[in-house]
Amino acid sequence: MLATIAIWSFLVLFVLNRVYRAGSRESGLPPGPPTLPVLGNTHQIPTKFAYLRFAEWCKQYGGIFSLKLTSQTIIVISCPRLIHDFMDERGGSMVDRPPSRIAEMTTNGVHMALARSGPLWKSLRRTALLLLNREACLQHMPIQQAEATQLMYDLLKQPEDFVEHIERATASIMLSTVFGVRTPRYSDSFASRFSSVQHKWQALLEPGVHLPVDIFSALEYIPERWASWKTISRDVRQQQRKLYYDLMNDCERRIGENRRNGCFLEDVIDQQGMLGLTTDMVAYLGGVCLEGGAGTAAISLQKFVLCISRYPDVQARAQKEIDDFIGFTRLPSIQDIEHLPYAQAVIKEVHRFYPIAPLAVPHFTTVDESIDGYFIPKGSVIFMNVYAVYHSEDSYEQPEVFMPERYLGSEFGTKPGADTTGFRSDFHFGNGRRICPGIHLANNAIIMNIMNLLWGFNFSIADKGSHDSPVPIQPEDFTPTKTVQMQHPAS
Ligand code: HEM
Repeated sequence: MLATIAIWSFLVLFVLNRVYRAGSRESGLPPGPPTLPVLGNTHQIPTKFAYLRFAEWCKQYGGIFSLKLTSQTIIVISCPRLIHDFMDERGGSMVDRPPSRIAEMTTNGVHMALARSGPLWKSLRRTALLLLNREACLQHMPIQQAEATQLMYDLLKQPEDFVEHIERATASIMLSTVFGVRTPRYSDSFASRFSSVQHKWQALLEPGVHLPVDIFSALEYIPERWASWKTISRDVRQQQRKLYYDLMNDCERRIGENRRNGCFLEDVIDQQGMLGLTTDMVAYLGGVCLEGGAGTAAISLQKFVLCISRYPDVQARAQKEIDDFIGFTRLPSIQDIEHLPYAQAVIKEVHRFYPIAPLAVPHFTTVDESIDGYFIPKGSVIFMNVYAVYHSEDSYEQPEVFMPERYLGSEFGTKPGADTTGFRSDFHFGNGRRICPGIHLANNAIIMNIMNLLWGFNFSIADKGSHDSPVPIQPEDFTPTKTVQMQHPAS
């Protein structure tokens, strides 16, 4: 009897000790904010704008710090030297994504951006790199040019709806370059279906909204009536698959009827056997490119509008450069950008000022690693804080000011004497072997449309009705419809 009580007491104490220690930071990890038993730092991580809190912790604990989400180790890196050394140079051990049961259940694990490393991801990645390289993307320029022209027409007719017009244009660029289907109106079937399912999909993946099934796997067995993510996942899965398959079938039908239009998926279908892709992988590769490109390019353009409305001197200087070089008798073309150093600087500064994915997409370590004397255990989630890199006072003169001039005298826009070890000008596209494969397509869309907008329109901050002062614009408060107005110079 006594022996049984002793064994049970030992087991209970052992379990309690394990639970109590779950949230504590193991020795050897990079420093970080103090933890609470069990929770770790869970209670301190905001669900919105986490990158701002991470940037504060970076100032306090340095370019690499750690957090505990109960027993899960999170590493946040904000120092270009460490990003290069850790994420770019040790690609193999850093190429995985954190497990996501929700993504797995919704997409069958074929969503390239969220897929675990392995043969499936490698085949998808090889295909994307093969067909989205710089030269291949130049073949899609006629459609980009056409969409950019329709965007100007729409803006001229209804400037007050500029947010929607930009969203339509980038959705149409992606739908036509990837699947060969245009979207002349936002209400068109494929675009509105995509927008509807994409909102649900993003909400489903939002951290902290649903039960943390990846940390506590037992939570997966909670019945559906108490686990709404299961219902939402099934709904998204059904709508997403139907949409991506409809788009793929449409493309196959055109190929069969000899009505090719040179879109990305035609090439994928042609080489499907050679590239070792299943039908599921082909449909989802197209869908993931659509997801990766439509929203991001739209947000880049909307943030550009926000920046130049807020900084009229920048707008005037960029417009003068464009007017002097291009004039008024023709539209800008993609080749013009080589001759427009200030416009190039404006584009870089928009990405620096408002990085679209401030924490990029997390990576996951597959082996124990060490860096700068710290131990990084296998299974750690790694975030790169792009926002903190781009807003560091050690690297930039007045980082909170929108100042494209910083890029005229320095490749990375950094201040004189700043340590530029490991610096790149495209941190906003991620890093290592997972770096965004859509860089060239995205850059072409952004460059083409920014040149056109500067060439054709004036932007200013909207007045606040009866109040004298203009509507303030906060970096984290992005509601451009309420804050910006635009007009054609001739109107
Ligand atoms: C301004 C536009 C864009 C930005 C800022 C952007 C940013 C990113 C970032 C930060 C990542 C994660 C990289 C990492 O894990 O280190 C990523 C991945 C990805 N992006 Fe983009 N992206 C853009 C446009 C596009 C476009 C146009 C496409 C498709 C044509 C695309 C397709 C993808 C795909 C498929 C991945 C997953 C790569 C992988 O996991 O191997 N993106 N992007």
